[in-house]
Amino acid sequence: MTGAGTREASPEALLKSMTLEEKVSLVVGWGPARRVPGAAGETRPVRVPSMVTADGPSGLRIEPTRERRWYATAFPVPTMLASTWNPELVEKVGRAIGEEAREYGVDIFLAPGVNIHRHPLCGRNFEYFSEDPLLSGVMAAAYVRGVQSAGVGATPKHFAANDQETNRAMIDTVVPERALREIYLKPFEIVVKEAKPWAIMSAYNKLNGKYCSQSEWLLTKVLREEWGFDGIVMSDWGAGDNPVEQIKAGNDLIMPGSDQIVARLLDAVKRGELSEAELDRSVLRILEVARRSLSYRGYKYSNQPDLEAHAQLAYEAAAEGVILLKNEGALPLREGSRVAVFGTGQVETLKGGMGSGHTHPKRVVTILEGLRERLRVDEELSSAYERYVLEKRGREFLEKLYYDEAYPEPLPQDIVSEEQVAKFAERNDAAIVVITRISGEGWDRRLEKGDFYLSDGERRLIEMVSRQFRARGKPVVAVLNICGPIEVVSWRDLVDAILLVWLPGQEAGRVVADALVGRINPSGKLPTTFPKDWPDVPAAKSPECYPGVPPENPRTVKYCEGIYVGYRYYDTFGVEPAYEFGFGLSYTKFEYRNLTVEKAGDEVRVSFEVVNVGSYPGKEVAQVYVRAPKGKLDKPFQELKAFKKTRLLKPGESERIELAINVKDLASFDESEGVWLVERGVYEVRVGASSRDVRLTGTFTVENDIKFKP
Ligand code: BGC
Repeated sequence: MTGAGTREASPEALLKSMTLEEKVSLVVGWGPARRVPGAAGETRPVRVPSMVTADGPSGLRIEPTRERRWYATAFPVPTMLASTWNPELVEKVGRAIGEEAREYGVDIFLAPGVNIHRHPLCGRNFEYFSEDPLLSGVMAAAYVRGVQSAGVGATPKHFAANDQETNRAMIDTVVPERALREIYLKPFEIVVKEAKPWAIMSAYNKLNGKYCSQSEWLLTKVLREEWGFDGIVMSDWGAGDNPVEQIKAGNDLIMPGSDQIVARLLDAVKRGELSEAELDRSVLRILEVARRSLSYRGYKYSNQPDLEAHAQLAYEAAAEGVILLKNEGALPLREGSRVAVFGTGQVETLKGGMGSGHTHPKRVVTILEGLRERLRVDEELSSAYERYVLEKRGREFLEKLYYDEAYPEPLPQDIVSEEQVAKFAERNDAAIVVITRISGEGWDRRLEKGDFYLSDGERRLIEMVSRQFRARGKPVVAVLNICGPIEVVSWRDLVDAILLVWLPGQEAGRVVADALVGRINPSGKLPTTFPKDWPDVPAAKSPECYPGVPPENPRTVKYCEGIYVGYRYYDTFGVEPAYEFGFGLSYTKFEYRNLTVEKAGDEVRVSFEVVNVGSYPGKEVAQVYVRAPKGKLDKPFQELKAFKKTRLLKPGESERIELAINVKDLASFDESEGVWLVERGVYEVRVGASSRDVRLTGTFTVENDIKFKP
């Protein structure tokens, strides 16, 4: 394969010495990987050692069972990482995942997912960060910096507008260019410019009529010429329908590939359908990335990443992503108080989602196990749920659910009678009801009871528990161990507190317990809106925007709402959400003071103070939204332009936050001229604790229109 001599040669020299057969073999991979079991794919060893690629994004996905166990840490899912609003923490998570990849012999990590939460029911939303392009982009850049600091390449995916799973391999996503550039491409633009990923994965879907993996406009004009990307583009697994067009468009690596594709490309070059120069371009890019890889450098991996340290980091990351949605005096619970825990999720706790984004950790702390460490759990009730789950699922299924992949069909939750609930209410101090929702690659969630809505059993359970506990003056707490938004308005009045823990990774139970008793003061904020009900959702406005039904088998999805995604829609059109973007409570209270806004050249400097005026130490996520003046282009009511999480502030302590916004980042895309445009006028700076809890406002003026090319 490779001699020391060839390893020294420059990519250009290597390219010159390669035969056509070798070149064609280098741009087509294989999968799954041969060198690392369970890794998704590998490049072929042609003059340089092969590179192993493995999934993400919640941790490294490799096969755990070989001659011994090879576990990888299950970190919280990206939606929860985004809920931390803490890029430094996300960078540490990226670094830890990169180290695990490196120590298991993986060269390129297939994450993070940078698609947008356009649609609350997209099955892979948990793998994506947010409905907002800035938050998504900043988190993705931090994640990529972390992974790559370990010497492993990262692969932001799925480029672009792969925001639903239904018919993902052939659906045509129709998006106006303005929405595409401002919402769907923006996070990729940020991650490419700020973190220089080694690779980008092109998406399965078509974009405005062309497969993403075959779109020269997307992969060459926008990605390379406009943004300066210099890594490799690889296809999603089996994406597209024409490998020749893929190479022509700038999709350098076809994954997982096959010998037929190698033969097809060879034939295309011989017949003049594909020029050797076009092929060489991709070969050179792969050689350049290969030279940076651990395999090329002969790195001796240990198969022993520091799983203990990473378990601690998984806890810390989840701890900062916990969101307190409601709290009417119920939380924190006193440590050691007696609790009655309802719901099968206490036993079959969901660490992550399904599909290529799942992980095989060494252990998962279930919610029940975590609660037992901090509270006096009513064992009669919890063991009834344990028996029930075991009987319905079987031990093997549960093992798979915790440590591998298994899809738990929803079980009825109300396995106790009202008389029994009354007994539990009598002898406990509080009730905890766990609600779970799972989703995964390949399918979208359903607008049905048991998914977006509570199931009848869940509703009956919450009603009974609420009646019996409240009658005795005891609080009811809902814990949401869910992959994405659910409807809450019809039942939230029945509970006194709601703690959202998403899919929190392997330390799930500890994080839940510590947040309930106040060892963790929740500091997460929503990266995605919780709508009041389905008809309010912008993506639900057209039947084509509704994945799955109707139409049953969609060929196109039209992004009818344009730029009005998430809070941009709710705020502009006066639609009240259940919980707005950026929302999250704390056990303490923060005040915002002394805003100054100053425009200096291309920068708007925003500075203010956050003060902890409550009685618990806590962190606050301060958000800066900007409202543009009325001008030529439609503008959303406001857009997030900067944010900062404070350090841990003790009661009475304050932190001065200083943020800078580049004026160019206020631009909208003017389709009529094909340029970015910042319109002149007075802009309002809105600083606050959520998109609807604005505490301070200021203004600055842009004197003249600013136009620039993409
Ligand atoms: C997924 C990608 C993943 C790849 C390799 C595809 O089905 O869409 O996200 O990286 O498989 O497992």
